[in-house]
Amino acid sequence: MAEPESGRTSLTFDSPLARELADLSSRRRALDAVSVDFSGDPRVITVSNQKGGVGKTTTTVNLAASLASLGARVLVIDLDPQGNASTALGVPHSADVPSVYDVLIDQFPLSDIVQESPESPNLLCAPSTIHLAGAEIELVSQVAREHRLRTAVEDYLATSEQRVDFVLIDCPPSLGLLTINAFTAAHELLIPIQCEYYALEGLSQLLGSVSMIQKHLNNRLHLSTILLTMYDGRTRLAQQVAEEVRSHFPNEVLRAVIPRSVRVSEAPSFGQTVIAYDGQSAGAVAYREAAVEIARRASSTTQDNKGEA
Ligand SMILES: Nc1ncnc2c1ncn2[C@@H]1O[C@H](COP(=O)(O)OP(=O)(O)OP(=O)(O)O)[C@@H](O)[C@H]1O
Ligand SMILES: [Mg+2]
Repeated sequence: MAEPESGRTSLTFDSPLARELADLSSRRRALDAVSVDFSGDPRVITVSNQKGGVGKTTTTVNLAASLASLGARVLVIDLDPQGNASTALGVPHSADVPSVYDVLIDQFPLSDIVQESPESPNLLCAPSTIHLAGAEIELVSQVAREHRLRTAVEDYLATSEQRVDFVLIDCPPSLGLLTINAFTAAHELLIPIQCEYYALEGLSQLLGSVSMIQKHLNNRLHLSTILLTMYDGRTRLAQQVAEEVRSHFPNEVLRAVIPRSVRVSEAPSFGQTVIAYDGQSAGAVAYREAAVEIARRASSTTQDNKGEA
């Protein structure tokens, strides 16, 4: 019976929870002091994994919001007919809204469809509508079907009145023509990996598709970043998956790991990213740390690839 009492004492001073909270508040302070230079070339990053539900959309919108809060101007391209990224960014995407479908099929310029997220003037979104579900099939018979998005992004970056630092593309869970358009348009691939059983399943197929794209369609594309998502540090499985992924990809895996967090999963139902919804929560702090790492890798990645471009 004495246990709850002593449990409470140790919770206050030296329990794992108390240590976790102290750690979180020092990480928040460190983030508040961060400044990042965004003077480099725009970076086009596709967030892809043909596995469903691994955190692609959550990662895209929360990294975009984190980068925007650091001062970057970020365009999110919602390339998934489900339109989840548009929802999370609070951007209207009903069937009558001009969307990525019009860009891919009718070659509208991106500037005609891009909307500002209510969250920040630095956060832009090219929305997806339900029409995009048909684009995969309609594209098959079109000229330059794999290059449609790349041409649109290049034109947008060349003509945009305001600078754009990042373009993040949220892909559907498949390796069809929509994802191929994203691979052809991007410089970098970011793979979110869920810290669960079967995490690495399908990864070799994904990387195989990437080498085909590098060979035939886009030699700039490279796997720059892996982000571990939905990490539950209390389970041995999550720790084992994280260790295994890090041993295979020591340079690509970010130090930041995204914890499984209720705040992260609630935010989209308010049409918000977790950065706006609860920017001090553990999930938001982890996404903000991941964004700083990605932004700081900018100069070396850009310089490394300048020679190849
Ligand atoms: N860190 C997290 N903690 C808790 N829930 C999360 C976290 N990340 C994502 N989720 C939830 O997991 C589900 C899948 O996430 P998300 O939609 O981002 O995956 P996805 O890879 O984009 O899925 P799809 O393949 O369908 O496009 C969502 O309900 C999301 O809210
Ligand atoms: Mg998604």
